Amino acid sequence: MTDKTYPPTAEFAANAHVDQAKYQEMYAASISDPDGFWRQHGQRIDWIKPYTSVKETNYAYGEVDIKWFSDGTLNVSANCIDRHLATRGDQTAIIWEPDNPDEQALHITYKELYSNTCRMANVLKDLGVTRGDRVVLYMPMIPEAAYAMLACTRIGAIHSIVFAGFSPDALANRINDSEAKVVITADEAPRGGRNTALKSNTDAALLHCSDKVKNLVVKRTGGQTTWKEGRDYDYNLLAAAASPDCEPEEMNAEDPLFILYTSGSTGKPKGVVHTSGGYLVYASMTQEYVFDYHQGDVFWCTADVGWVTGHSYIVYGPLANGATTVMFEGVPTYPDASRFWQVCEKHKVNQFYTAPTAIRALMAHGNEPVEKCDLSDLKVLGTVGEPINPEAWNWYNDVVGKGNCPIVDTWWQTETGGHLLTPLPGATTTKPGSATLPFFGIEPVILEPTSGAEINETEAEGVLCIKDSWPGQMRTVYGDHERFQQTYFSDYKGYYFTGDGCRRDADGYYWITGRVDDVINVSGHRMGTAEVESALVAHANVAESAVVGYPHDIKGQGIYAYVTLMNGVEPTEELRKELEKWVRTEIGPIAKPDLIQWAPGLPKTRSGKIMRRILRKIAENDFGALGDTSTLADPSVVDELIENRMNRS
Ligand code: WTA
Repeated sequence: MTDKTYPPTAEFAANAHVDQAKYQEMYAASISDPDGFWRQHGQRIDWIKPYTSVKETNYAYGEVDIKWFSDGTLNVSANCIDRHLATRGDQTAIIWEPDNPDEQALHITYKELYSNTCRMANVLKDLGVTRGDRVVLYMPMIPEAAYAMLACTRIGAIHSIVFAGFSPDALANRINDSEAKVVITADEAPRGGRNTALKSNTDAALLHCSDKVKNLVVKRTGGQTTWKEGRDYDYNLLAAAASPDCEPEEMNAEDPLFILYTSGSTGKPKGVVHTSGGYLVYASMTQEYVFDYHQGDVFWCTADVGWVTGHSYIVYGPLANGATTVMFEGVPTYPDASRFWQVCEKHKVNQFYTAPTAIRALMAHGNEPVEKCDLSDLKVLGTVGEPINPEAWNWYNDVVGKGNCPIVDTWWQTETGGHLLTPLPGATTTKPGSATLPFFGIEPVILEPTSGAEINETEAEGVLCIKDSWPGQMRTVYGDHERFQQTYFSDYKGYYFTGDGCRRDADGYYWITGRVDDVINVSGHRMGTAEVESALVAHANVAESAVVGYPHDIKGQGIYAYVTLMNGVEPTEELRKELEKWVRTEIGPIAKPDLIQWAPGLPKTRSGKIMRRILRKIAENDFGALGDTSTLADPSVVDELIENRMNRS
């Protein structure tokens, strides 16, 4: 940890939306009178019927109910497109940068975004999609993904995006859980010079779904696909024939906008539900203030639309603000480690937002790939997804930002819809590795983990909870409100429980210390250890498995799997490879274990509970102080595991 702090320059602060005094004033107002604060800021978007009520929220376990602006009506796509047409119809809304730099980038104006979204909306209507229906998107990072999202919102359908790196099984589970009517996919997804066969993955998924599910297929590469008449529909043909106008549906503020599946500590992924009004207010406000976005700036968030970051900061936040947003199909290191910076130079990017894992991976290639590019348009740099180590922070600051660009380390979650803890670039003095201070309306508290008591001293360490609601908060788990209450409101009554550990320093700055539940963070992607375990035990040769995270230089955390084989099965290298492949097919490449250790036995208490604390220590190669092992049923198991541990670094 370094002690050096980075105040905003006077020049930056003078031109920023918010300086330190204004932050303090607005923050105080947002906490003392949330209703009044959000009544004012809710007006940043266009309402068809204005709201009269603002905040109606209840965190009491058993009665959890969250509503914002609940008697207002609006249409999200009209906010992201139509309302900009008169003033900036010819301005670029989306800059699309393809995987292959030799392919032409696209500049899509707001007018073009309008007609393309309307065409997609009409195609969906013709396929029978109406208000409230679910549509699953399994797509490459192409403009049609944004059209599809916005088209759903235009007709009141609820989209659920499944990251294109997920396997057919994972896709099928999400189609079934959301009872989707239509899946939108593309023939193939080019990424890093390789094509993923999305259509054939979708074919495989649909074998496990209702025959009624229709499949709308966008042409991306023109690669060969199989075709099932009556189920598969050619998007490009239908869109060409569709009308370029489509009236937006008038939706209630609390009508669901999207479902996004995310991993938890137990069971299968949950469908996080975000609604229309509050989410859009919060996503657009954070995009503007946190990145200090000004009209005419070019904003680039490198996430995939399959994650919440892509929802809020590639599509909804920027477009609601009439911004120019970059959508990048590729990866940071293709064709080489200079790609991010080349794209920044090419499109004159002003705000750049990426993940610490990408920064670490690029840092490993040295400074030359950065230094050969002209990055003089950069103004603000952002990070998200996991704690950033000070070394990576400093490299980002010195080499990428040349010491001139404030860094916003934004802490938030799929559940929160937008940033909760973050610097504001013109207001906050930053400290490398700290997500600093709360955004407007956010009241973080640190609780003593076992008693749940609020720690009131400024310096504190414990679990991070949020005291009261904000407009961008998730409303429920799709189809399972009880699970929503159980997961977020039952352990610490009266608070929203984030699942993260946190330290507050003497200046009141927040430092996220990582998950306190059985969720690991691999390259900024959330992975439930239970999910990987259930994939492993689904293999015929596996009797039992326990999965934990361990420190990984690039990924932040790696996946370490302890596997107990069925009686009589030989542990071979071949089987190890087979299990890695198995998990890739069951969940997707991001879930592939980095290390698999054969475990003749797992450390268990006498009541049969696996002692993960011990497994974590061994995986971390830090088994000197294993703590209390007296409750173990068979302590010798531990010696065996230490002896054959896979991580010796
Ligand atoms: C972690 C991504 C430290 C955290 C938007 C959280 C972070 C989980 C940060 C949510 C950050 C995200 N510093 N940790 N700036 N941002 N996290 O749902 O553990 O994919 O709970 O949302 O990522 O991951 P999710």
